[in-house]
Amino acid sequence: MGGRVYSGTMRPGDSLLSRVLATRRATVRLCEPLGVEDLVAQSMPDASPAKWHLAHTTWFFERFVLAPLGIPAVRADADYLFNSYYESVGARHPRPKRGLLTRPTAAEIFDYRRAVDAKLADLAGSPRLGELAAALELGCQHEEQHQELLLTDIKHLFSENPLLPAYRPSIDAPEVSPRTCPLEWLSFPGGLVAIGHAGEGFAYDNERPRHKVHVEPFSLASRLVTAGEYLAFVRDGGYQKFDLWLSEGWSWVQANAQKAPLYWQVEGREAQVFTLRGLRPLRHDEPVCHVSYYEADAYARWAGARLASEAEWEIAVASARDPGGARDGAFADDPRLHPAPARSGGLAQALGDAWEWTTSAYAAYPGFRPLAGAFAEYNGKFMVSQIVLRGGSCLTPPGHARPSYRNFYPPHAQWQVSGIRLARDA
Ligand SMILES: [Fe+2]
Repeated sequence: MGGRVYSGTMRPGDSLLSRVLATRRATVRLCEPLGVEDLVAQSMPDASPAKWHLAHTTWFFERFVLAPLGIPAVRADADYLFNSYYESVGARHPRPKRGLLTRPTAAEIFDYRRAVDAKLADLAGSPRLGELAAALELGCQHEEQHQELLLTDIKHLFSENPLLPAYRPSIDAPEVSPRTCPLEWLSFPGGLVAIGHAGEGFAYDNERPRHKVHVEPFSLASRLVTAGEYLAFVRDGGYQKFDLWLSEGWSWVQANAQKAPLYWQVEGREAQVFTLRGLRPLRHDEPVCHVSYYEADAYARWAGARLASEAEWEIAVASARDPGGARDGAFADDPRLHPAPARSGGLAQALGDAWEWTTSAYAAYPGFRPLAGAFAEYNGKFMVSQIVLRGGSCLTPPGHARPSYRNFYPPHAQWQVSGIRLARDA
């Protein structure tokens, strides 16, 4: 560590560096409600221990920002322990066994973070910040993605504990709107339209290039499907009617004895839902979330509608945002840590509240070029057997979502805050 290596004046890259360090501090703050035991356990192969998230995001900066500058690694074992999926970096600890990494201890991982942060801080004023900008920006965006994963993974871990602990104890959060606005159908003309990220500002390689697609006229629901609406599907025997489900979805329902979204308890008279603030009665006006693609698709069929393609979703959100006709939902700075009822007017919950399943397979846009070097593995190699989700959720860091953002999960995944917006042909 030691003092600053560079002592020049403030350079343009310094504001990026400040943002990186602020993002790093925010990740640590997310762990403040957690005990040491909470940091270590892994509830399923898809989820990672919070301690691993803390270490892996640190390793990302060390491997991709500091190592290229010739700065020695703080931990010689980090490449093996905390590499997620970068074949170009080398062999790594198996993902399903991350919960067995009781060593390094949590205290050692916090030390690791502090040591790497100090080396990053030493870059202030460096004439090399310009060439590091892309890796620093990606490291920052990557850390924000892991902030969201840390919360969804802790939620899953706590849901497996019979005590159903709350990540944050219940508070009397102000209810902006305890009643949801009525569902309206918003019409869009379609045509030959452009989707994909354009202009300045950060975007992942999978959002590029902007390109044209043809879209038939369609309508999009003005808000997300509510828990009350989805409960009607459950009470109507939706999970017992094979004709509502895709074949693969029906097999999934049978194999897992699915009866409701993840974290719902529907056996009693009053349905309950487990949240990051503990178990509580289901509020009918809030969006349903933690549904798989299979559930979203089956619900849409039951409701006489369908899901939107990602192109439909993106042009609807982009065109509604321009005249100010779109309103965003809650992000991770909302103390409820759960999707909230839609407020009235225009396209509600455009970004935030819950990720929205689309009908689109996660695939390369025409002309897609992965990033250079190791970052080529960031997105492109996952473009098979996954479905695109759009919009962001109440656990997404504020500022991380945008209309062109493409999230992706396999169709059975439920542990992200995934919800439903209906669409239909015009
Ligand atoms: Fe990662």
